[in-house]
Amino acid sequence: MSGHGDPIPMTSHASGPLTGTAQVPGDKSISHRSLLLGAMAVGETQISGLLEGEDVLATAAAMRAFGADVERLGDGAWRVHGFGVGGFAEPEDVIDCGNAGTGVRLIMGCMATSPITATFTGDASLRSRPMGRVTDPLALFGAQSFGRTGGRLPMTVVGARNPVPVRYRTPMASAQVKSAVLLAGLNAPGETVVIEAEATRDHTERMLAGFGAALSVEDTDEGRVITLTGQPELKPQTIAVPRDPSSAAFPVCAALIVPGSDVLVPNIGLNPTRAGLFATLIEMGADLTYENMREEGGEPVADLRARFSPDMKGIRVPEDRAASMIDEYPVLSVVAAFATGKTEMVGVKELRVKESDRIDAMARGLEANGITVEEGEDYMTVHGMGPDGVPGGGTAAARLDHRIAMSFMVLGFGAQNPVSIDDGEPIATSFPIFEPLMAGLGAQISRTGD
Ligand code: S3P
Repeated sequence: MSGHGDPIPMTSHASGPLTGTAQVPGDKSISHRSLLLGAMAVGETQISGLLEGEDVLATAAAMRAFGADVERLGDGAWRVHGFGVGGFAEPEDVIDCGNAGTGVRLIMGCMATSPITATFTGDASLRSRPMGRVTDPLALFGAQSFGRTGGRLPMTVVGARNPVPVRYRTPMASAQVKSAVLLAGLNAPGETVVIEAEATRDHTERMLAGFGAALSVEDTDEGRVITLTGQPELKPQTIAVPRDPSSAAFPVCAALIVPGSDVLVPNIGLNPTRAGLFATLIEMGADLTYENMREEGGEPVADLRARFSPDMKGIRVPEDRAASMIDEYPVLSVVAAFATGKTEMVGVKELRVKESDRIDAMARGLEANGITVEEGEDYMTVHGMGPDGVPGGGTAAARLDHRIAMSFMVLGFGAQNPVSIDDGEPIATSFPIFEPLMAGLGAQISRTGD
């Protein structure tokens, strides 16, 4: 899984109106968690709508290596026969999580309170990312870890033989860190408490409760306090994974910047901890509406309708919204180029430790396409050039980062000149049908040699 194939250079071109319906894949965060919680339940969990991207397939393979029976029944339909909380078997080989930060960090949490040893690796992007943010709290449970300098993969985690429960305040806004601690707490006796200053995506909490764990969430002066009672018996579930708002962002943003477009993106999960981009776009003046609002599986869901929006204005994105749109800043910075005025993105230093340094990756790539960007450690400002003023014509480095690759493809649909990326291969980690789906709406993407 960590073997990266030959690079796939891609170019996107000014496109006619984008029209039609975009059925984006299942939510990546919920897909990972469905497999993990399914493996830790006793009995058979049924999943439909699972994202079959490389990140999630790596997590499925990992759960098999730890002893779960994981089977693909058909398109997005999977069955997981779990071994129960604490039932982890020691894997025979290294666990390769590919490009997936969520995969590796949550799996480390799951196994850290079982008396087994596992070694983790991933692709060059994942091997460059910090794991200390997860292994530090896991050490409080009694787990040990041995990695490369700077807490990088490959890394071996020795699970705690006699885990103790933990009270932990997350030092950064990270759902992965919060989730790793909660998942480790499952096999510790007593109550594990996680406190987060800002709310991050809450899928782990919702799904743990759905699987029958005793969990409470309280908003206090200290922040969001999540209390989990350890050693529950998790009960298998039937899960319908909602479609991913982070993937919906690409056809939505493309429609906003391509003249004449009118695109429907149905069945998108609009959990408030994930929907910050859409609120931001509406504040900028985007013609974006929620249709058919409803509740499914305890989560708000709507069909998104996005139309060409020539009158968007740059705004200062509120800092307290960052966690709810952290994966969407790259594509927002593309839309910002087509607005008038400045779009200021502040309090976003977490972008520096994603699949790539996303501030640097976007700033360099936008500059190569004639757009002015200012950046600092924790901010990025894009100077808008108006709906028909974006030059394009440059090449951006995708840096093994799916969201950087897709963002620059969107840029090219609306720019005056084609926009290229050196490698579109990472797109398959989260959105394997990106090219045919965008082509179906009328977007022009070519691969070198086409
Ligand atoms: C995720 C949490 C976020 C996000 C990632 C998915 C999750 O990462 O960027 O794509 O599923 O928990 P952080 O926890 O690093 O913010």
